[in-house]
Amino acid sequence: KNIALLAGGFTGEYEVSLNSAKNIANNLDKAKYNVYTILVNRDRWFYEDESDRVDVDKNDFSITIKGEKIKFDFAFITIHGTPGEDGKMQGYLDMLGVPYNTCDVTTSAISMNKAYTKTIVHGIHGLNTAKSIRLFKNDGHDIGSIASSLKFPLFIKPNNGGSSVGMSKVYSAAELPDALHKAFNEDNEILVEEFIKGREFSRGIARLHGKVTVLPATEIISSKDFFDYEAKYTAGVTKEVTPADLTHAKDAESAEIITEVYLRLNCRGMARVDFILQENTNDFYFIEINTTPGQSSNSLIPQQVRAAGMSVADFYGELIEGAI
Ligand code: DAL
Ligand code: MG
Repeated sequence: KNIALLAGGFTGEYEVSLNSAKNIANNLDKAKYNVYTILVNRDRWFYEDESDRVDVDKNDFSITIKGEKIKFDFAFITIHGTPGEDGKMQGYLDMLGVPYNTCDVTTSAISMNKAYTKTIVHGIHGLNTAKSIRLFKNDGHDIGSIASSLKFPLFIKPNNGGSSVGMSKVYSAAELPDALHKAFNEDNEILVEEFIKGREFSRGIARLHGKVTVLPATEIISSKDFFDYEAKYTAGVTKEVTPADLTHAKDAESAEIITEVYLRLNCRGMARVDFILQENTNDFYFIEINTTPGQSSNSLIPQQVRAAGMSVADFYGELIEGAI
């Protein structure tokens, strides 16, 4: 089978995506799959081999190498953020009838939007979401009213972002204007969200052999003020404990909640849910779901797959076979 491994994208997570693609390519069974890594940029989508860059023919999603036309049987999307995580690529592939590894258009688009996702998962039993307000770039913003309607510290996030790009944690109203500006540089809408004090976790889930399967949780213990881009991708800054040290009951509760989130959002393939176990109440707070989670060899999902006793190669293979 010819697999197009789609990487790159239009956001600050470009490099993250290249690392994800490298690890996926290394773990796909070469006897079964011919893997072509396609770099998706705004101006061109291309495949690169030793000698040449070959543009993708977007009319039929093919490349031509040395006169031979190669059409793809499957797309493995590992673009974080737009256009691979928000439904755009999914819509393109749907129109051409090419199967792919992720959620469909609607679920991708909703899940990319942190505010919409929170609205949908809010009613799930045992699951809470942090109080937040959503701001749009073209509206005026009254710093005083933001500061008085939410409790500090606050997180300021691009509403459709990832990897903490454009994100800030602020402790006072005086810090808000700079933080809003930074987030609006990444997105036309942002989320101002109350900080939930507690332990931070992230947990993968996927449909494997037809069955929704929750992976072991990871606890994220960052030495920085929050799990920002540097903490996510610099070795040694964050301690990631997989499987997390949770009581049996809390572990089971989180698995149940994450399964409910996955089903209610109508997810497909793999996804990863980030959540906080609040210190005072011992309740879970949903932060967000990532439908194209990072796949570098050190990333959370590969860690969790190994901790579950599976091989990463089998895991990716099953995602492909399950989606075809
Ligand atoms: N957005 C990054 C890649 C993640 O969720 O893993
Ligand atoms: Mg994310």
